[in-house]
Amino acid sequence: MPTWSSPPTGRAATAASYLGVTTVTDVTGVPADVLSTLFHSERGGHEQVVLCQDRATGLKAVIALHNTALGPALGGTRFYPYASEAEAIADALNLSRGMSYKNAMAGLDLGGGKAVIIGDPEQIKTEELLLAYGRFVASLGGRYVTACDVGTYVADMDVIARTNRWTTGRSPENGGAGDSSVLTAFGVFQGMRAAAQTLWGDPTLRGRKVGVAGVGKVGHYLVEHLLEDGAEVVITDVREESVRRITDKHPQVAVVADTNALIRVEGLDVYAPCALGGALNEETVPFLTAGIVCGAANNQLAHAGIEKDLEARGILYAPDYVVNAGGVIQVADELHGFDFDRCKAKATKIFDTTLEIFARAKADGIPPAAAADRIAEQRMADARRA
Ligand SMILES: NC(=O)c1ccc[n+]([C@@H]2O[C@H](COP(=O)([O-])OP(=O)(O)OC[C@H]3O[C@@H](n4cnc5c(N)ncnc54)[C@H](O)[C@@H]3O)[C@@H](O)[C@H]2O)c1
Repeated sequence: MPTWSSPPTGRAATAASYLGVTTVTDVTGVPADVLSTLFHSERGGHEQVVLCQDRATGLKAVIALHNTALGPALGGTRFYPYASEAEAIADALNLSRGMSYKNAMAGLDLGGGKAVIIGDPEQIKTEELLLAYGRFVASLGGRYVTACDVGTYVADMDVIARTNRWTTGRSPENGGAGDSSVLTAFGVFQGMRAAAQTLWGDPTLRGRKVGVAGVGKVGHYLVEHLLEDGAEVVITDVREESVRRITDKHPQVAVVADTNALIRVEGLDVYAPCALGGALNEETVPFLTAGIVCGAANNQLAHAGIEKDLEARGILYAPDYVVNAGGVIQVADELHGFDFDRCKAKATKIFDTTLEIFARAKADGIPPAAAADRIAEQRMADARRA
């Protein structure tokens, strides 16, 4: 278990350089460097960062509120064994910033926030720790609304919700919306239809060959939408049971060995990354056979600049945080008493939003990822002025 005094190593060193520091040696060293990121770096600009500790339960958490111009900051709680506190803080800052953009583009009256709990959930997650964390969420009085993320689940949100009114992602028995992957997949499909309209003049995947990498919770629902629309589908997944769940039901779906094979499939029209982040990088982009990339995975662009490589190859990239917003639309709705039809109507608008981004990208002569950022920043700035 890392402590507040662990020096950064490996990935942590990256986090440390993001924070603009070379070493993090004690608790007094951290705030100074965080302050410099927050107040002076381009990737800073966060409104509030809360460091939380509950010694009795071993809770160490960071709650980062990036921008609340549009409303309370909504974003999940990640529970992860970070190699150092610097890495955890960097992740919270980065993820909360991403949520500001995602929520703005989803048309939600919500800002961007995110929390991380430091430690291995398998080792330290207890009911008492989650309740202690929930009391910190409560202390923010509604400025931060939490939800599930990596390492936290619906059952955890049910526990955290016992301490405050600002916990979403709960089970239906506890007033929650349950599984968010249904609407996430639906939203990705809307984004893909918009990309098809932009590239081929017709908002359908009928007759197109679509490759889905990762057919887990979101990917398998996406496959259903694609088949219903008349697409030819090729899939890959590292888990055999995920593949079999689809091929048992739909024997016409083709399977390839791995993502490397999928991106090179001859005649592929669309590539849908639905597994992990970083799918678009120097090893994949030069070999993509597809004309469109549109999938559910978060943070698909491995680093800044990859969006330009996609554009240079004439590949239309539908920005991940725009098309995968169905899940956040769903959890946000819990704040008003969950209504599936209302959420589906909002997720349907991902089609129009994606079209708007492609149009703006063309008009401004910039990649769609940059156009999405510009539109989101404008929405936040307008809300601030209103
Ligand atoms: N669930 C949601 O509502 C939601 C919302 C927004 C974004 N996302 C993002 O979408 C992605 C998928 O989410 P999910 O909820 O379906 O997760 P999941 O874990 O249910 O599914 C991911 C699938 O990808 C497979 N996989 C992992 N590594 C792979 C690899 N190298 N090659 C091929 N397959 C691989 C896994 O075996 C699994 O079947 C994630 O990046 C997630 O952050 C999900």
